[in-house]
Amino acid sequence: MKKIVIVGAGRVGESTAHNLAKAELCREIVLIDIKEGVPQGTALDIQESAPIFDFDTKLTGSNEIKAMAGADMVIITAGIPRKPGMSRSDVLDTNLAVLYGIVDEMRKSAPKAMLLMVTNPVDVLTYAAWKRSGLPREHVFGMAGVLDSARMASFVAMETGFSVKDVTAMVLGGHGDTMVPLTRFTCINGIPIEHFLSPEQIRKIVERTRGGGAEILSLRKTASAYDAPAAAIARMVDAISHNRHHILPAVAVLKDEYGLSDISMGVPVVFGECGVEKVIELPLTPDEMAEFKRSAAMVQADLERLKK
Ligand code: 2OP
Repeated sequence: MKKIVIVGAGRVGESTAHNLAKAELCREIVLIDIKEGVPQGTALDIQESAPIFDFDTKLTGSNEIKAMAGADMVIITAGIPRKPGMSRSDVLDTNLAVLYGIVDEMRKSAPKAMLLMVTNPVDVLTYAAWKRSGLPREHVFGMAGVLDSARMASFVAMETGFSVKDVTAMVLGGHGDTMVPLTRFTCINGIPIEHFLSPEQIRKIVERTRGGGAEILSLRKTASAYDAPAAAIARMVDAISHNRHHILPAVAVLKDEYGLSDISMGVPVVFGECGVEKVIELPLTPDEMAEFKRSAAMVQADLERLKK
């Protein structure tokens, strides 16, 4: 990709810009934010690390949404974050208005760009972005599952003491309290975690994964997670920019997969240069499917608010 635009130069946007630049995932990164001087200063700060990290990516900042012109990908992190005690859905109305402004400009000045949604509630806003943009569903997706799965893998590694490099975890569903950490698909070097952990230990890991974002927020009080989210975004961009055909859990617009349509939520996806190449339908047990459908119902409830 030549140009990636990050809208929102808060902590997530900033960390994302740094990760993408360091990995040289594109030639040019433009950070856009309404706060005067902030995207410019952040872009310059990261640019000045280029001689040390040895990257050629060019970074600039702008307060003009039009600076997204010609982008190959637009990553949306703008919006209000939740405060302790708020759910991701509590920020829906404000963030929806912000999103529509961005998408409307995309239609004019970057109509071919892919859209990676990060702002919460991410499942609903991915759907809203897809509807408003008129883009094919392959080009609109959201970041959640890579982050949630990374949290789960971290907790498995902490609990077992094994290398995190050996752990693969899989979390599907909506990015909220009803997300579905799939323990059956969570392994340590191919060995199911049940071999090493008791049902009680696994239950605690599942709960901690579900509350992973809230845990960081309750510790920091004024800032949500940003390092792990930005790493997750970079993993998705890497899969696309290198056309890796990488399987990653992500928020995708569903069309009959898992028996659902007209909704977007977390499922395993194959990412390549065209974005979402395929949604993978896992053979879920009746219990897993029931949890997945319960999560879908929560996303659907937010979607109903959106359609009103
Ligand atoms: C999280 O889970 C911010 O929703 C994001 O940390």
